[in-house]
Amino acid sequence: MTGGRERDGSSNDAGTPGGVPVGAEKARRFMSTADALLEAHGIVRTYRRGDIAVPVLKGLDLEVRRGEWVACTGRSGSGKSTLLNVLGLLDSADAGTYLLAGHDVSDLDDTARARLRNRLLGFVFQLHNLLPRTTALENVATPLVYRGVRRAERLRRAEAALKAVDLADRADHDPSELSGGQMQRVAIARALVGDPEVLLVDEPTGNLDLAATREVLEILDRLHADGRTIFMITHEEDVAEHADRRLILSDGRLHDHDFAEAHL
Ligand SMILES: Nc1ncnc2c1ncn2[C@@H]1O[C@H](COP(=O)(O)OP(=O)(O)OP(=O)(O)O)[C@@H](O)[C@H]1O
Ligand SMILES: [Mg+2]
Repeated sequence: MTGGRERDGSSNDAGTPGGVPVGAEKARRFMSTADALLEAHGIVRTYRRGDIAVPVLKGLDLEVRRGEWVACTGRSGSGKSTLLNVLGLLDSADAGTYLLAGHDVSDLDDTARARLRNRLLGFVFQLHNLLPRTTALENVATPLVYRGVRRAERLRRAEAALKAVDLADRADHDPSELSGGQMQRVAIARALVGDPEVLLVDEPTGNLDLAATREVLEILDRLHADGRTIFMITHEEDVAEHADRRLILSDGRLHDHDFAEAHL
């Protein structure tokens, strides 16, 4: 793991996410648990199309601690991607409170959200979204452009991230020259290159065969052993079992997996 772990939700800058001041009263009210990196309370998200409302998240609570690996399963359409978008600051909740590394993000403007997202989060999307006709190295380096990192440094960090997913020898290949599992590992390297606090992962093994699934899980296992915090969506039981804790999204809320299996 490369540096940066000193960032701490309980630090003094908790009231000024992205440089935007948050009232002292509010900062006190939503004081974060010391080691909670993701903390959501009463999250509501309803899509609207004309007069029709589609309620998806209905007062959802979540707490993910530093270093924890949490897996979330749930039926298709239950709102998993919607949740990931809210947690990843790509979408806003209609109601509820969300603290990311101690920052209350509820009232932030787009610029402050983008800044926080760049600094704290790494995404691995189900369809890895790699740029075609672009080498693995350049793909991995891309997020650093938005952070104003100089090219030589971008490439140096991208090389290190590719090494972390055992793909140093494929740096010059473009996506069409990589296997599905390798592409997914490049996507993980791209999520890692900014040294994020949290990895948000949507179906990392969705389209992969057994061998490639094993490769990806090996990388995630290693990142977790190194202390990364991971929130992962998956529909595969054996993939979910790698996590420390399992949740099920159902009827707009998260439930403990074992409890739900026994009682719901
Ligand atoms: N932009 C949108 N406008 C309206 N409804 C939407 C929108 N995005 C998603 N939905 C609806 O919200 C619900 C949750 O969608 P979401 O994509 O979060 O589900 P999911 O659990 O990720 O499903 P899957 O496992 O199939 O990926 C679905 O019923 C979907 O049709
Ligand atoms: Mg989805």
